[in-house]
Amino acid sequence: MRYPPSLLEEIRARLPVSAVVGKRVRLIKAGREWKGLSPFNAEKTPSFYVNDQKGFYHCFSSGKHGDIFSFLIETEGMPFPEAVERLAAEAGVPLPVSTPEATREEARRNDLYEVVELAAAFFEATLASNAGREARAYLERRGMGLKTQQTFRLGYAPGDRFALRDHLMQKGISHEAMIEAGLLITHEDTAVPYDRFRDRVMFPIHDQRGKVIAFGGRAMRTDAPAKYLNSSETPLFHKGRVLYNLHNARKAASDKSEVIAVEGYVDVIAMTMAGFAQTVAPLGTALTGDQVTLLWRMADEPILCFDGDAAGQRAAYRAIDTALPLLAPGKSIRFALLPEGQDPDDLFRAGGTEAIATVLQQARPLAEMLWAREVEHGPLDTPERRAALERRLKDAVGQIADETIRRHYGADIMNRLRGLLPAQGVARSENWAQQSSRSKSGGDWKSNNDWRANAGVRGGNYRSGSPRGNAALAASLAPPRASASLASHPMFAPTRGESPREAMIVLGVLAHPALLDVFIEDIAALDFSGPLALALRARLMELAADGEADAQAIRDRIEMAGLATSVARLVHVMIPGDRWILAASSAEDEVSAALRQAVTLQRRSRTLHTELRAAANALAEDDSEANLAWLMDIQAQVNSKKGAEADEDQLPELDDIN
Ligand code: UTP
Ligand code: MN
Repeated sequence: MRYPPSLLEEIRARLPVSAVVGKRVRLIKAGREWKGLSPFNAEKTPSFYVNDQKGFYHCFSSGKHGDIFSFLIETEGMPFPEAVERLAAEAGVPLPVSTPEATREEARRNDLYEVVELAAAFFEATLASNAGREARAYLERRGMGLKTQQTFRLGYAPGDRFALRDHLMQKGISHEAMIEAGLLITHEDTAVPYDRFRDRVMFPIHDQRGKVIAFGGRAMRTDAPAKYLNSSETPLFHKGRVLYNLHNARKAASDKSEVIAVEGYVDVIAMTMAGFAQTVAPLGTALTGDQVTLLWRMADEPILCFDGDAAGQRAAYRAIDTALPLLAPGKSIRFALLPEGQDPDDLFRAGGTEAIATVLQQARPLAEMLWAREVEHGPLDTPERRAALERRLKDAVGQIADETIRRHYGADIMNRLRGLLPAQGVARSENWAQQSSRSKSGGDWKSNNDWRANAGVRGGNYRSGSPRGNAALAASLAPPRASASLASHPMFAPTRGESPREAMIVLGVLAHPALLDVFIEDIAALDFSGPLALALRARLMELAADGEADAQAIRDRIEMAGLATSVARLVHVMIPGDRWILAASSAEDEVSAALRQAVTLQRRSRTLHTELRAAANALAEDDSEANLAWLMDIQAQVNSKKGAEADEDQLPELDDIN
């Protein structure tokens, strides 16, 4: 085995030459050096010098010169590897084991890389072939076109039980190696091992260097027994120590000093398309400590952006416990919260890059998330319940290993707890709300209306941390997921297919009926895709046609039309940071400007989408370079933030004209 120079350097750095030589030669200090009688020649006056700063010895009588390793080789006739071993032990530097066994192991790992790489290439080729037609269509449908397929080396595993096995056999790979690479399934009662991945879209998983080490396979049919199947643990692949897309994300992460962790493969790909290439994902298990450490190598405060559903919240809450013991000064994690029922992929399809950027900008610090988690536990209306809260928080803070951070967390928590005392509640709560960037969310819209009960709670979530000892209030601010009965309420049914921007537009005019007249024509002309937003828009158009302008009357009529639940659900769909426009107290010109921008963006993005479909169809008809270029150009426009910014820039001009 060859020892890497860095390893030898580390041993040298830890062991002064004088310490190694001093065991054989009596050394006395001579200025900055040491001197002694030559170990190589018999002599009476010392001509042998050791310099610790420079890391070498020099013998004037024999002309020999060297470092700690050569000293052992020269004086004890030790072979180099043994010298390294011995000095490493002395220095306390762990060595990669270099037994013949280990050498064989390394060779076998190299063989395994090759097997997995052959499989990846096979899946890729199959996707591109006739057999992959359905899978290609599936991927296209989900917005993962040719370029994306190539970038992420997506593939397709055929339905046949032996397709990969036969292919690899032809390449001279043994069954044993295929099994070890996690590609075949065997158990006692199957005589013949067969392909683990069948009829699945394949997502290769790479190590940091970009070598394929495993796969995730996505079933295309909804009735498949498992949506995703991963490679089993192999000598190359340890789920908890790997992050999907790490090899690609590293560069972007270091350029932007930011890294994002999402839940799924498709989310990573959507984030990359949205312009956030610094995104990785764990492999379908809870985030591990190893993975947190990997994230910290890329950025000080990784952002976890988990799905906006109960499972996503559970995963986020679990990550708190994983991170606490590992915190170090400057190192933390943040939490970006997605609209109800959406994952990053949904949000990107619905709201594009801006929606994602907004959600990331509003990422909450760990301390706030911990507080929210514990406060959600239940009512805090008695001293005993508040004491239990304090106990839970203290236990959590006790998990922190770093003394300084623990102290700061203790102070932070004490501050928040103090605010819970009813006597001081109100004043402090204002304060706290002001500190929170979410203070604008919710508001009047909620307070005088029956649909309000849980509207905006995902944003208000943290305000439930706002210190009030009032059980009723705490309950109304508690997130829907806290209670099973609420969670099953139709109001919290997943709102797939709804777009945050469409929600913002219809709810914005609903909350500010004075603007209904100004905007309704523009809004009527927009291309909407969300069924709830469409239904609400239709009703708003009727109201506008009737000339109805009284806020309460409009709300009553919306409610009578059975749309109250739709309104509440659309509030969830909105990006929390946009919810301020729903407050009756928000300045009308600000609301108007925000709505105008949303309308402009909506018009633009829908136009682009129509063009995107046209380009995709053209490419399907005629697979030419020109058509591919057209498609990619539009895709880039759809993804680019520039579109949004250009429109923003125009806003002041419009105002100037008016
Ligand atoms: P999700 O169920 O959120 O899937 O699981 P997804 O990534 O959004 O995929 P699409 O959009 O439905 O295709 C998140 C991650 O959990 C793991 C996978 O790693 C997946 O990407 N998972 C999920 C499994 O390992 N097995 C499963 O059956 C489901
Ligand atoms: Mn998902």
